[in-house]
Amino acid sequence: MDDFVFHNTTKIIFGRGAETRVGEEAKAFASKVLIHYGGGSAKKSGLFDRVAASLKAAGVSYVELGGVAPNPRLSLVRQGIELCRKEKVGLVLAIGGGSAIDSSKAIALGVPYSGDVWDFFTGAAVPTEALPIGTVLTIPAAGSEASTGCVITKEEGLFKRAVNSELIYPRFSALNPELAFTLPKEQVANGAADIMSHLFERYFTNSRPVELTDRLIEATLRTVIDAAPRVLATPGDYDAWAELMWAGTIAHNNLLNTGRVGDWGSHDIEHELSASYDIAHGAGLAVVFPAWMKYVYKHDVPRFAQIAGRVWGVDNAYMDQERAALAGIERLEGFWQHLGLKVRLSGLGIGAERIPEMADKLTNKGTSTVGNFIKVGRKEAEAIYRLAL
Ligand code: NZQ
Ligand code: ZN
Repeated sequence: MDDFVFHNTTKIIFGRGAETRVGEEAKAFASKVLIHYGGGSAKKSGLFDRVAASLKAAGVSYVELGGVAPNPRLSLVRQGIELCRKEKVGLVLAIGGGSAIDSSKAIALGVPYSGDVWDFFTGAAVPTEALPIGTVLTIPAAGSEASTGCVITKEEGLFKRAVNSELIYPRFSALNPELAFTLPKEQVANGAADIMSHLFERYFTNSRPVELTDRLIEATLRTVIDAAPRVLATPGDYDAWAELMWAGTIAHNNLLNTGRVGDWGSHDIEHELSASYDIAHGAGLAVVFPAWMKYVYKHDVPRFAQIAGRVWGVDNAYMDQERAALAGIERLEGFWQHLGLKVRLSGLGIGAERIPEMADKLTNKGTSTVGNFIKVGRKEAEAIYRLAL
């Protein structure tokens, strides 16, 4: 096991009515907050009003900024920064999923910074300060409610880039599984693919031995494989949503990469897709991950055979290990298709035209690599995109 420090500082408030407790939580940090949300689902469902009432009851005032798009944009982040400065906001409260939360995180980083917030995403500057953030989660997916990550798209040039900092761990996140009941099926499936991908990114490691975290990841994967079809079949199944929502947080709160170095190449490969084609992150991962797996499995056939046996139930005892590995990848594709996901770019209406451009942007014109399990440079990235066609 590799040495590690684990220090996740996000307080999780989990269960029915969790959103009505955010006023008290917010009050500990600020007397005025920005409520930041997406395209309207929070207003339509009445969630916004419940959150606003909770703030009011705690004596916390608010300003609001909606309109966060999936794959959140830098221009709205800039607006949010200006608004927070003008209104002297002390905490950013996101209502939504990864997009509203990441946009909130970027605003929180930008408010105390005198330069351009995009500096943090290019690596030109490292964050040293941020406003506190709180979240009300409405979709189990990105895990941003308890992560150090923040992913923003700059419209000019279509650059989708991430920054990681412990400063943007939300101070509190309210997780009420009932809030997910209104999710469209497509978003449920995208979310499940993202959660599973966060687990795969951690599973495919060269660190050894990693038995405990292997087992924890496998258990979380099996939970998602059980719960996702149940919530699709019965959108009001609270218990299944509760499993899925907690799995989504656990998958990305850094617990499951303790003692190991994860891969993360597929996330970078996917971010170029969602930047170029504005597809949902989870939909892109459902295409990229099987292709990445087929490209890399020979690097560690026993690891792929292990996950095939323990997670997908492939009976690998009498099977050639390579056949077991490939059977596991096939079962993953079958499961994602069962959820309604496309597992090929063609299914998303995407062809080969922009592959060289995406591989170029991914690797800074071939000068850098992504991933740790194997290093993916421009040539490898092109091959993976082509395998995904
Ligand atoms: O905008 P609204 O109207 O709320 O609609 C949203 C949006 O259209 C809808 N939705 C969410 N909750 C709903 C709902 N509709 C009805 N009922 C509800 N309860 O779902 C759509 C997708 O929302 P979004 O926030 O975009 O989803 P997700 O959580 O998948 O976030 C995706 C973003 O997170 C980034 C992705 O790259 C992408 O930009 N990621 C962030 C990470 C992080 N910060 O740690 C890690 C991830 O790997 C990921 O990269
Ligand atoms: Zn993800």
